[in-house]
Amino acid sequence: MREKLLNLKNQALAQIISAENPDELERLRAHYLGKKGVLNELAKDLPHLEPALRAEIGQLFNEIKTAISQAISSTPKVQNRTLVSFDLTVPGMKPPQGHLHPVTKAIEEISGIFEKIGFIRVRYPEVDWDWYAFETLNMPKGHPARDDWETFFIDAPEHPKLGKIVLTPHTSNGQVREMERLGRPPIRMVNIAKCYRRQSDVSHTVMFHQFEGLVVDENINITHLKGTIDYFVKQFFGPDRKSRLRPYHFQFTEPSFEVDVTCDVCLGKGCKLCKEGWLELGGAGMVHPNVLKAGKIDSDKYTGFAFGWGVERTYMMKSGLKIPDLRLLYSNDIRFLNQF
Ligand code: PHE
Repeated sequence: MREKLLNLKNQALAQIISAENPDELERLRAHYLGKKGVLNELAKDLPHLEPALRAEIGQLFNEIKTAISQAISSTPKVQNRTLVSFDLTVPGMKPPQGHLHPVTKAIEEISGIFEKIGFIRVRYPEVDWDWYAFETLNMPKGHPARDDWETFFIDAPEHPKLGKIVLTPHTSNGQVREMERLGRPPIRMVNIAKCYRRQSDVSHTVMFHQFEGLVVDENINITHLKGTIDYFVKQFFGPDRKSRLRPYHFQFTEPSFEVDVTCDVCLGKGCKLCKEGWLELGGAGMVHPNVLKAGKIDSDKYTGFAFGWGVERTYMMKSGLKIPDLRLLYSNDIRFLNQF
């Protein structure tokens, strides 16, 4: 009898521990402790035992009942555990999500801004003939102005007319290509592409991006250039930033300008981070008649303006974006890129 009872207790406790839900626990309670449960059935034999043994076994009965009911009354724990593991309202684990590179985002934003005023986004070769990168831009072979572009030349045979092959040092190679593609004005293009120059320091990377605007039509003048620049500056940098044109020289524009934007820190008042309140954006000007001629456009009838600015440099001039070294953009360091 004693052994039978102890076995029963062990069996009951084992079942309680491995019970998977509250219903099963209730079933075990009825099975062992209920009015018609196993223990009560066995207790019916008690009166038939010898008096001394009856007392001992009777006590054992009570101990076992208490043990089983205590085990079951730890039900709340089991209930919680059971509920949690089946809680359909607990949010799932999200897989890590990446994002576009800051330069890709800047390119998307820039093309979006120009598309709104009717510019067509185009893309021209990043490895191109000297003809498009220099010759047709009023920079004949040996012209000293070419030196400013610190160009990489490809070691390949020269074309009799188009010359050497270069890694494009600027997106201006798209100007005559776009004139050839359309055949005649109106032209309103924004060419965004990779460019390469032999230079590397905190504000230069060997590979970078430029966006080149070109507009050619009848009666295009400097006010159109200035209006377009102002529109872009307000859209990209915000309504409190201003632009100005500073006289400059390029072989392919006449007159030529450097475009400045008010500093995002002092907003034009002058501070340590800028030149008397201004930051330099890049070049612009009215398309030189020789360039129009190279693109077979009647330079008596049509005029145009062009500008070409670095995507990375322009992006860095956005308010509040203090990137100390442009090369970080291409270091592929996830700790840096995750901040954008
Ligand atoms: N291509 C010039 C540069 O790389 C910029 C420019 C483009 C200037 C168009 C005038 C007109 O610096």
